[in-house]
Amino acid sequence: MKKNRFIALTAAIVALTACNTTPKVAPAIPQDKDIEAKVEKLLKEMTLEEKIGQMTQITSTAIANGLEITPAGDSIIRTYKVGSILNTPGGIAQTPEGYDKFVQEINRITLEATGTPTLYGLDHIHGTSYVLGGTLFPQEINLAASFNRTHAYNMGMVTAYESRAANVPWTFSPTMDLGRNPEWSRMWESFGEDAYVNAQMAVAEVRGMQGEDPNHVGPYHIAACAKHFMGYGVPVTGQDRTPASIAASELREKHFEPFKEAMQAGALSIMVNSASNNGMPFHCNTELLTQWVKEDLNWDGMIVTDWADINNLYTRERVASSKKEAVKLAINAGIDMAMVPYECQFAIDLKELVEEGEVSMERIDDAARRVLRLKYRLGLFDKPDTMLEDYPEFGGEAHAKLAYEAALESEVLLKNNGILPLQKNLRILVTGPNANSMRTLNGGWSYTWQGEGASIPQFTQQYNTIYEALDAKFDNVTYVPGVEYDLMSGNWKFDEATSVKEAVAAARKSDVIVACIGENTYCETPGNDEDLDLSDNQIALVKALAATGRPIVLVLNEGRPRIIREIEPLATAIVDILLPGNYGADALATLLAGEANFSAKLPFTYPKYTNKFAVYDYKPAENQGTMEGVYNYTAVMDVQWPFGHGLSYTKFAYSNMTVSHKEFKADDVIKVTVDVTNVGEVAGKESVLLFSSDIYASSTPDVRRLRAFDKIELAPGETKTVELEVTAKDLAFVNYYGKWTLEKGEFALSVGDQNQTLNCLETIVWDEPNID
Ligand code: BGC
Repeated sequence: MKKNRFIALTAAIVALTACNTTPKVAPAIPQDKDIEAKVEKLLKEMTLEEKIGQMTQITSTAIANGLEITPAGDSIIRTYKVGSILNTPGGIAQTPEGYDKFVQEINRITLEATGTPTLYGLDHIHGTSYVLGGTLFPQEINLAASFNRTHAYNMGMVTAYESRAANVPWTFSPTMDLGRNPEWSRMWESFGEDAYVNAQMAVAEVRGMQGEDPNHVGPYHIAACAKHFMGYGVPVTGQDRTPASIAASELREKHFEPFKEAMQAGALSIMVNSASNNGMPFHCNTELLTQWVKEDLNWDGMIVTDWADINNLYTRERVASSKKEAVKLAINAGIDMAMVPYECQFAIDLKELVEEGEVSMERIDDAARRVLRLKYRLGLFDKPDTMLEDYPEFGGEAHAKLAYEAALESEVLLKNNGILPLQKNLRILVTGPNANSMRTLNGGWSYTWQGEGASIPQFTQQYNTIYEALDAKFDNVTYVPGVEYDLMSGNWKFDEATSVKEAVAAARKSDVIVACIGENTYCETPGNDEDLDLSDNQIALVKALAATGRPIVLVLNEGRPRIIREIEPLATAIVDILLPGNYGADALATLLAGEANFSAKLPFTYPKYTNKFAVYDYKPAENQGTMEGVYNYTAVMDVQWPFGHGLSYTKFAYSNMTVSHKEFKADDVIKVTVDVTNVGEVAGKESVLLFSSDIYASSTPDVRRLRAFDKIELAPGETKTVELEVTAKDLAFVNYYGKWTLEKGEFALSVGDQNQTLNCLETIVWDEPNID
């Protein structure tokens, strides 16, 4: 694991505290003395109500009508001294000028009422998606597919700059839930199924957002909010916000990992998972919120709830028998700010709880201190407002180029029986419900929560749909939808066969069919689905098109892998563009024309059957092979495509793998080199992935784990030696009893088709935090 800047600055273990034998680690974010002094001074001057106000966050729709703050909203802020506001006014994207004035007005009221600036937060999870004219990047699942950290960094950087142009200093991103259950409606918001990929990409995004110094974030950067802490991506039912059943070992080893890395890289806030694990809602889990995060990691950032989730401890989770008890449980567990989000009973209840001795003043001070520290770190006391005129690059060419480049590296070529690249003069039929929609390219959290805002022409008409991009790139393009969604509707599951016959007739007059299928957009609980199969209408469309005998290029445009087993053999080529954003269709046209090369790989395992989901780091016994191979635990897992699968217009050959240690001990750093050669005819980029396997272990080992990756570019015939590093401790696992464990014995490392075995010479067992 790469050391981050802050850890490198300080020794990991600094002292044993006098009264406690637990080793205290160095602060995840080294504090700035001046800021701390200012925070303490302010805290001393504040009343209990004012401190609780800092802990209260309400939604913009509770205080405003569109961009107009209502008298009732004004009064809520003043009465409860509300310290933070979230969400896009009116639930729809606004102009940057509109935001500038809106947040300025909130600041005017808040400063008058509390003497502190507001902390405004938006869900800019794939670029500046709630500000009109802002730059929308591909969703995180795409960035993961690029296996290129630079794109995550760029997205963070652009989002920060453009959010500040709209006077917004905080965003609820990156999302680092492990997308390990393909049924889950938010899989696409994450960096896929692997803990290491999530950690690496999240750290890059945090750095891009916050800049290099989390104590002085400055006017071109914003605070990140790593979410949703943690284990949100593996609900047992597959439905959003339903309970998980994650073993303690898995929680620590995989789900905690990206959060730990992001917090150590300076992430200034985290948001909590709405659901529960093994009966314990995350919002009242003292062990995780206070011990793991605040104490073990010595992290001084701020913990915010998710939407109404304190109240949900009472109304949904039923671990509290009243609203007030829910407040007590959550605040005592370590929550610093409550996204209430509509009314402020929270503030009334919390004040009473303090007066009754149920919540300590120390806890309130800790929470308020963390909120104030964040506001200071963001520079809001010096400059509460930032204005569009100081951000000339907002929505400009330079940002568009970065979003386009991210899209180009994020679309995965899954199959190509020689038909791609397409000749310019072919007669191309573009068809399918995803062929002519900006909404489906973007996914949820785009102009509106569920993404239907991207269908509003004034918002996105300057960008190209797939049909428009192909029409611009190729000589002879016809469009017939065949099947259509209702692109303005919330009923995203609905599609209708409107023109299958016409599409088939057009196919007969074409040389090639580009069938754009997949999903309409959704998000969170409204995105729950009972069936992962592609819709009947779309399957029927592809079958009817295939009957013409014309070759089909399937373009999958989807947030989670829809089962396509039945129609996969009917396609000559398949590209999964996932959710590539406003420039995703231009990128696709360039790739299909062969003017750029595909280089993305799947960051998740693509399932073949709805009753057979898998992740790449499964336990050996999970592999039951195919019908022919029952009890064959070394069979190739029967999935549609494995994690890491992705083709190119060229081929890469791996050779000469070396490892620095054939035998190693716990403190060793193992260096791996491998030669990668472009043996094809065209230039290409290749993500080089290093996997490890612990052959036998006292807890049943994962078959493999990704430990390092790097992306390189090679001209035809060119060879590069790639160097990757693994610290020995990265090869450890968390055992049944929750302890990090590195055991003696054999390990295998593999890169491409190259393998080496090596031996660990010692067994060590240690507690969290596993900081290298
Ligand atoms: C979502 C979060 C989001 C929050 C604020 C919640 O419903 O789960 O991801 O940040 O709303 O909009």
